[in-house]
Amino acid sequence: MNGKERGMDNGMKGDDRQPDPGWRPATRAVRAGLRRSGFQETSEGLFLTSGYAYDSPQQAADRFTGDDDGYIYSRYANPTVDMFQQRLAALEGAEACFATASGMSAIFATFAATLSAGDHIIASHSIFGSITKVITDHLARFGISHTFVDAADMDAWRTAMREETKLLFLETPANPTLDVFDIAAVADIAHQHGALLVVDNVFATPVLQKPLKLGADVVVYSATKHIDGQGRVLGGAVLGRRDFIDEVIQPFMRHTGASLSPFNAWVLLKGLETLPLRVRAMSDAAQRIAEWLQQRLGTEAVRYPGLKSHPRHALAMRQMAAGGSLIAFELPGGREAAFRFLQALELIDISNNLGDAKSLITHPASTTHSALSEEERARQGIGEGLLRISIGLEDVADLQDDLKRGLAAAGIA
Ligand SMILES: Cc1ncc(COP(=O)(O)O)c(C=O)c1O
Repeated sequence: MNGKERGMDNGMKGDDRQPDPGWRPATRAVRAGLRRSGFQETSEGLFLTSGYAYDSPQQAADRFTGDDDGYIYSRYANPTVDMFQQRLAALEGAEACFATASGMSAIFATFAATLSAGDHIIASHSIFGSITKVITDHLARFGISHTFVDAADMDAWRTAMREETKLLFLETPANPTLDVFDIAAVADIAHQHGALLVVDNVFATPVLQKPLKLGADVVVYSATKHIDGQGRVLGGAVLGRRDFIDEVIQPFMRHTGASLSPFNAWVLLKGLETLPLRVRAMSDAAQRIAEWLQQRLGTEAVRYPGLKSHPRHALAMRQMAAGGSLIAFELPGGREAAFRFLQALELIDISNNLGDAKSLITHPASTTHSALSEEERARQGIGEGLLRISIGLEDVADLQDDLKRGLAAAGIA
């Protein structure tokens, strides 16, 4: 049951237009999933309700058996959340989407709904720190084993495969090193063994990269990042085939509770309207700033998928439409220089969030990746002088002026 069918059955005035008559991405971002109530509001309605009233006890009973597909309870489904799910699915080119309370709940739901005791998961070493924790500390308690691999090494994925391997997990570009991995090649390996490939597409966004088209089975998002894009709410999403979302994710989410709130869904819907514009602008600015930083710090010190010097630039340009909004760069002088750089900034905020209209910068070794051992950080290329910047929507010249302050404080002219 999709939001359109459910909306029509529940007194939201149906929109006579086709849900998506072949719209292009910018139109989808603004219009897909829109369902208007009888008031014909232009903006999406915010259905801030936890429950729904029934016309009769029989209707209530029919809702619970599934004979009537109207709404029951907002932990299960909600009209505003449905609109967000449909719009994001349309942008992604996915058959279906399930929205969650945060990116971590999207990822945990995907693991918990697909894996059982005795199963095995293979994940890239270069993933968001909380996901590593979920795999090592929590899935392990339920008898789910794991292997971490260098995601660029296809033999490592193949060698790690076991009879009981059910899921491969990959993030590209990776946080915080901006490494890029081959989605199609890893998907092939997963499918040869009947496993699922799940891709965390947070850094690239649906605007710049479409993992499902490249062979992935499932895409997960922290909607907290570019999808909101203005640093307001937490949210997440799982996207994939209709049967996977309806038969695997939905039954798990319905009973376990990490549903997206209608208010957050409404904020995220408004975020989607401008997502293509924002991501393109941020990515264009990031490309300029990466090139500018490279002139000051040297070729090797700056990691950005849009730079020709990126070790996997050709792959990045094959699977991404542009380099994205994040840049990593290494300062000579380690943590001390990095902290002096951060302290000198007057415009760019020190924050571990990303994808915001405001440019944000973080020192991964002491924040997002501080829980990793020093050895693990070294293996992933997360040095003490490494900074990760999320480029926002400010004027590039103002950002450069601020970065000059940082560079001067770090002793780089
Ligand atoms: C790549 C990536 N995946 C997942 C997450 C988790 O998302 P959330 O904070 O919305 O739970 C984050 C958060 O920083 C992230 O950067």
